[in-house]
Amino acid sequence: MKIGIVMGSTSDWGVMSGAAAILDEFGIEYEKRVLSAHRTPAQLEEWVSGARERGLCAIIAGAGGAAHLAGVVAAFTTLPVIGVPVKSRSLEGLDSLLSMVQMPSGIPVATMAIDGAKNAALFCVAIMAVTDEEVRRSLDDFRRRQAEKVLASEI
Ligand code: RP5
Repeated sequence: MKIGIVMGSTSDWGVMSGAAAILDEFGIEYEKRVLSAHRTPAQLEEWVSGARERGLCAIIAGAGGAAHLAGVVAAFTTLPVIGVPVKSRSLEGLDSLLSMVQMPSGIPVATMAIDGAKNAALFCVAIMAVTDEEVRRSLDDFRRRQAEKVLASEI
């Protein structure tokens, strides 16, 4: 099983690379693409429509501004779609957040925090961990190490 990572522009990679880094850490394969809901709608539809057949089990979609990318991705697939609102230049990402989180009922997008690409990947790991025992153990280890780091920290 693989994860899909799609973003509206190469300018989103600075944030979206955080998702790739987490998946690398867990040894989970992913496909990453720059595809835009408004600049390349036909190619986006083609990539999303074939996602399940290519072995993807969830798609992370990151975009900024009028961030309809995640909603459009969700319209073309019944795979879980996790949206990452990317911080925009003019409205600090509030526009991106509201565009994603306010999806009308019927086509859900699980929306993370602004620039929350790492959590998007961790959410995908949690989805995979439901049915994959090895991934579940890795996620438990990750949580344990994270807790140990907090407990070992000094101020
Ligand atoms: C959106 O517009 C992209 O997702 C990006 O966050 C934002 C700005 O894109 P560029 O002008 O940097 O290509 O489509």
